[in-house]
Amino acid sequence: MPTSSAAETGTLQALFDETIAAEQRIEPRDWMPDGYRKTLVRQIAQHAHSEIIGMQPEGDWLTRAPSLRRKAILLAKVQDEAGHGLYLYSAAETLGADRADLTAKLIDGTQKYSSIFNYPTRTYADVGTIGWLVDGAAICNQVPLCRSSFGPYARAMIRVCKEESFHQRQGYELLATMMRGTDEQRAMVQESVDRWWWPALMMFGPPDDESPNTEQSMRWGIKRNTNDELRQRFVDMTVPQAEALGVTLPDPALRWNDRRGAHDFGEPDWSEFKAVLRGDGPCNAERVANRRAAHEDGAWVRAAATAFAAREQAAP
Ligand SMILES: [Fe+2]
Ligand SMILES: [Fe+2]
Repeated sequence: MPTSSAAETGTLQALFDETIAAEQRIEPRDWMPDGYRKTLVRQIAQHAHSEIIGMQPEGDWLTRAPSLRRKAILLAKVQDEAGHGLYLYSAAETLGADRADLTAKLIDGTQKYSSIFNYPTRTYADVGTIGWLVDGAAICNQVPLCRSSFGPYARAMIRVCKEESFHQRQGYELLATMMRGTDEQRAMVQESVDRWWWPALMMFGPPDDESPNTEQSMRWGIKRNTNDELRQRFVDMTVPQAEALGVTLPDPALRWNDRRGAHDFGEPDWSEFKAVLRGDGPCNAERVANRRAAHEDGAWVRAAATAFAAREQAAP
């Protein structure tokens, strides 16, 4: 009956609102508004896709690592990213999303991944810079998500963040080693930081007044800080690390502001950000084509696993 189901939805909505207000977790079995579910599926899918596509820029260097030690570290890091993607696809599945469908949307371009992975890795210093700046920015974004209102996402983030800390440290350690090396190595680090600094700042998304979904996501406890707050946190965290490394961040407007108790910094080129999101970044086509080829090449593995599972189920 329409009246009773409306009343029922009203009660369920009230329960949901109380859970959010009490800072408790929403679990997959709980009722949730459609918008909440859709927003989470979109965000978690985009996050999962970023982890998987994010394996490519550094993966390009696996066969060219300068030593066995560097190769072992890089392999471990890239494998961690695959694991992050898997936890996140699983979290999306608890919301009723279908993983095959999410993959299809990634390779047909209807779902996005972080714009940062559309930039090329030109030198081995980029492996260090990505760890330091890109994983560093990811940590700023993801630590507050450990308190996300959706249980499976928040719990996945705890392990992901621990691994991201390792990624950030290995990147910093690699750059610190190069900075103690030759003039050529130091120049290589600086050139790499010059290329990655601005794209790293763009990882926090557009400025708050151009981020239409932020307010609702914050009311739902999906997001805990605005894009600009997180960008500021990242800049404040990174400046002393750059000083310790001895590299210059390529922003003439970057300086400490005593009154705000924070660093002032310049504006990223948002037209570049929009172009990369539109698909016009230096590596968009290559990244998606690689992912599509890997998916097609893996068809026999999926078929074999499905046949095996069916046989196991049929067994007495
Ligand atoms: Fe990751
Ligand atoms: Fe990472």
